[in-house]
Amino acid sequence: MLVLGIETTCDETACAIVKDGNKILSNVLSSQIDEHKQFGGVYPELASRLHVDRLIPMIDLSLREAHITKKDLNLIAVSYTPGLIGAITIGLNAAKALSCALNIPFIGIHHIEAHLYAAMMSSNQKLLFPALGVVVSGGHTMLLKIFDIGHYDIISSTIDDAVGEAFDKVARMLSLPYPGGPHIEQLALDGDPLSHPYKAGFVKKNPLYFSFSGLKTNVLYSIHGHNNKSSSSHLSPRQKADIAASFQHAALFDIVSKSFQASKLFDCKAVYLGGGVTQSNYLKKLFHDYNLENLPIFFPSQGLSLDNGAMVAGLGFHKYQKQQCSDPLDLKAIPRSSF
Ligand code: KG4
Ligand code: ZN
Repeated sequence: MLVLGIETTCDETACAIVKDGNKILSNVLSSQIDEHKQFGGVYPELASRLHVDRLIPMIDLSLREAHITKKDLNLIAVSYTPGLIGAITIGLNAAKALSCALNIPFIGIHHIEAHLYAAMMSSNQKLLFPALGVVVSGGHTMLLKIFDIGHYDIISSTIDDAVGEAFDKVARMLSLPYPGGPHIEQLALDGDPLSHPYKAGFVKKNPLYFSFSGLKTNVLYSIHGHNNKSSSSHLSPRQKADIAASFQHAALFDIVSKSFQASKLFDCKAVYLGGGVTQSNYLKKLFHDYNLENLPIFFPSQGLSLDNGAMVAGLGFHKYQKQQCSDPLDLKAIPRSSF
């Protein structure tokens, strides 16, 4: 079955053609990072306008790279939640129109669930359930127990910032460009992760929940002092690198340690990770170093960590098998949602 996946929830216009849930025939995107950089984050109205300009060319490119035509498609899958409402609507309406014009089914995909599927799609082995799902992206930080594709229990999430958001905010404090994660990781290579005793938050009522706002404030104090007088320009390159390395260590060690606590508590046989922060080599190293029980750990492969159309198309295939198709005219863009 050939599925076209469309992803426009935030600042990537992404399309892919995937066969039978995991054979990626094409996976193309047009990133808007350069256009949003000047605003220090995503400017929603600009994101919508750029999706309008770029979506049709991206759909065409995904078909060309897969060496197929529209008529070969069997299903359209599109992210409809969560994200920026204008941005989602561009992708959703294009998917609705194509579905009606080609007379093929159409399915709405939850963006976070698609991130979670990315590592499953990348694994060449039989999927291992129950598993721990770890979503670490710019908008979400979550632990889930995965019983099967489409069947999850949420274990915990963040009570304030998402981990990727914390990277982006700390990067801004250090005058690094958006998105901050890769720049912090690069700067941290020259720093000492134990130079500042930072710690991510502990949520008393539920110790598996996440909190990064206190950590962020501690970084702010290291940079600006307690009376918020100066910018980061007074710091030496080594001081900045030490702050970046210590922040990165504190934030990512918290993800790793809570993930392993949860995998033990919920008897998980494997760990599947998803979301943009899984691009981090430091996160991969920590998961490797602290994997005392030798659990199989799966990261998304190249091109499937950040927002992409392949994870949407791949998950669409499974949802379709489970008869979860949407009526094209009924489905609405939903900016906020859990699952
Ligand atoms: O999953 P994603 O593309 O967007 C959402 O759905 O939210 O993730 C983007 C996030 C950004 O916050 C970015 O700073 C973060 O992923 N990120 C990283 C790294 N690469 C990307 N965070 C830490 N270390 C990295 N190497
Ligand atoms: Zn995402």
